[in-house]
Amino acid sequence: MEVDAVRTDPLRHETPMLALPLFEDDERLEGRVAAIDERLAGLIGRARSAGDFRGRAEDLLLLYRPGRQLGAERVVLVGMGKRQECQEEALRRAAARAVREAERIRVTRLSFLVDASLPVEAERAAQAVAEGGVLAAWRFRELKTGAGEPEPPVEVELLELVGWEAASAAVERAAGEGSIGAGAENLARTLAARPPNLETPARLAEMAKDIAEEVGLKATILDPVGILAEEMHALLAVARGSQEEPRFIILEYLGAGDDARPVVLVGKGLTFDAGGISIKPAKGMEEMKYDMSGGAAVIAALKAIAELRLEANVVGLVPATENLPSGSALKPSDVIRTRAGKTVEVVNTDAEGRLVLADALAYALSYDPAAIVDAATLTGSCVVALGHHASGLLSNDDALLEEIRAAGERTGERCWPLPLWEDYRRQLDSDVADLMNVGGRPAGTITAAGFLKEFVGQVPWAHLDIAGTAWGEGTAPYHRKGPTGVPARLFIDWVKSRVR
Ligand code: BES
Ligand code: MN
Ligand code: ZN
Repeated sequence: MEVDAVRTDPLRHETPMLALPLFEDDERLEGRVAAIDERLAGLIGRARSAGDFRGRAEDLLLLYRPGRQLGAERVVLVGMGKRQECQEEALRRAAARAVREAERIRVTRLSFLVDASLPVEAERAAQAVAEGGVLAAWRFRELKTGAGEPEPPVEVELLELVGWEAASAAVERAAGEGSIGAGAENLARTLAARPPNLETPARLAEMAKDIAEEVGLKATILDPVGILAEEMHALLAVARGSQEEPRFIILEYLGAGDDARPVVLVGKGLTFDAGGISIKPAKGMEEMKYDMSGGAAVIAALKAIAELRLEANVVGLVPATENLPSGSALKPSDVIRTRAGKTVEVVNTDAEGRLVLADALAYALSYDPAAIVDAATLTGSCVVALGHHASGLLSNDDALLEEIRAAGERTGERCWPLPLWEDYRRQLDSDVADLMNVGGRPAGTITAAGFLKEFVGQVPWAHLDIAGTAWGEGTAPYHRKGPTGVPARLFIDWVKSRVR
């Protein structure tokens, strides 16, 4: 989907479909909307007074122009909820619903009214509408042959933002940035949606390399020999049960010169997690193809950061492997040595994410980073605690935690803090090694993060447990059943917030 901010008169602008965001608590129609209503012979006003369209967040109504006084053939009214409560997220959702309505009636070009009557500032509004539109358009169709499908779905190819007289350079740039960020998040969704037989660790690394070449990132891929040379024995231990070789993916973006300390983004890259010898039940195991969602978000964020030419140095690290049972697999009670030198007693081979992350976080320290943020589909407990509406957020640094939380609010990729008190650390004490890889049932998300904390030294670090947010049933209007791409936009926004 292409997004354009156009300098045009919304009343005259010729378009197959014009979307109007309307609020439920506005007493009367004003400004442009009132003028459009006049040219629609009062249809909007009648729909409102009849109560058929009230402007609530779930309301949507498609109208046809009665004559030729309006440039738009169709007008779609999109409910925004209450004006006072309106933030970017309401615009993202409204744009997404307009795009889905256009898809439904097979219209491929959509104009969306974004002007000064909105309670959100121009640039932020433009970015949000672009994001909602681009995210809504995502589909995963590359493995469908079309056999037995009467009509393939249509795609909205062009989303126009109309209404800002100036369509100023700033508004245009904001729309472009929204489109890049959402496009990257869609890439993360595609990477997550690909099945594990086609997207092995080696293939994922190849894909990351191709993306890096496309946008001018430096990519380094470590194979088992390279991983061994870096002493990442925990990553190798998890990979041991699989026929597929692991890879360690390193993406580097230098946007702030050689001297500035980088931030490092780390993403869990399990292309499939069967649990290993501590095998998972069959029911729902297919969902574990999404266990590389954190890694996908990291790859996607680096792509966007490079495209946006942000003035920051950013490193992306993705330990990629499968976790399978076999005669050579890691066993419960095995003790492994991590890159950091700490020994770990593996009590449950299904707690593999923290093992591969331990080595990746230790590797991150070699950059002397200003901060490290990791994202991982790490614990089922996090889904129990927060459901699908927030990622778990744990950190050793209050200021960083607040930065991430704020980025989550701005992007609609919400996070909620859980404590990382020392009190929980005892649950990881091992009789034979420095620590165990599981801490029992209580506070599973916290003990998992507590395990990671052992590997970040004194560097400000935040951990996002995205087990409940990386994929879902598609409840947000811009999602579909399947992967969400979270937290790619949060990462981008956070890096941006540190340089502006
Ligand atoms: N990838 C899973 C976590 C997961 C579970 C993500 C459900 C999404 C939905 C992770 O590797 C895992 O298996 N975690 C275990 C940890 C336990 C053995 C301490 C879990 O949460 O059950
Ligand atoms: Mn697991
Ligand atoms: Zn896992």
